[in-house]
Amino acid sequence: MTEQGKVALITGGAKGIGLATARRLARDGYRAVVADREAPPADLPARHVIADVSSEADVVALLDGIARQEGRLDALVSNAGFMIRKPIAQLTLDDWNSVIGTNLTATFLLVRGAEAMLRASRGAVVTIASTRARQSEANTESYSASKGGLVALTHALAVSLGPDVRVNCVSPGWIHTKGEALRPEDHAQHPAGRVGTPDDVAALVAWLVGPESGFVTGAEFVSDGGMTRKMIYAE
Ligand SMILES: NC(=O)c1ccc[n+]([C@@H]2O[C@H](COP(=O)([O-])OP(=O)(O)OC[C@H]3O[C@@H](n4cnc5c(N)ncnc54)[C@H](O)[C@@H]3O)[C@@H](O)[C@H]2O)c1
Repeated sequence: MTEQGKVALITGGAKGIGLATARRLARDGYRAVVADREAPPADLPARHVIADVSSEADVVALLDGIARQEGRLDALVSNAGFMIRKPIAQLTLDDWNSVIGTNLTATFLLVRGAEAMLRASRGAVVTIASTRARQSEANTESYSASKGGLVALTHALAVSLGPDVRVNCVSPGWIHTKGEALRPEDHAQHPAGRVGTPDDVAALVAWLVGPESGFVTGAEFVSDGGMTRKMIYAE
């Protein structure tokens, strides 16, 4: 499939799911722009911008740069995110605000600033939430709240920006991005028989920003190997 002439912005594209998505979209023919606090690997065929997507000034500068240098925006993948694990008694307001800022507010800033370019191209937005929007481990309040908010923000944007712009969400489960050692039981606990890879998410994002998903908007796609469909009772 080729999307020659189109432009894609991927936030958090220096590593993990964002990097795999940037590589995939570049392979599909997009001119890719990666925005991250860190630089991506030198071999990534993309322009990169060092930016903190929770900063209004950085997002404004990022989108001004795309308007000037690429002149259009067809696909926005709002992927940058991180988790703080702390008992709530130790979670500071700064901790809370930093997670909400990157995982939720950044998508508001990005879509607000990119609305005109996205409408002009009849483009598409994909947000990267998490299965943790709907289930939790202990001590992950700020992360779960941010991802639940992102799922809701996705359908609100789809209604406001349609029919010009489609907005969808991918909620990954366990994706192997941190190089952790995986045991056979880690794979086996998934109905699909394995832990996910960044390329699993990238393929779904590529379809969602592409022309074959034209009747899909406001939706959440869970890519978790079936884990959230599995009922577990203690033995
Ligand atoms: N890996 C998983 O199992 C998993 C599961 C569900 C959801 N997710 C979500 O997928 C997304 C990507 O996760 P990942 O595992 O690839 O993470 P990662 O840590 O490998 O990469 C995240 C990238 O985002 C960048 N980043 C973080 N905050 C930023 C900010 N404020 N401004 C700019 N860049 C910023 C980091 O520098 C990093 O390069 C996140 O939103 C995460 O919550 C991941």
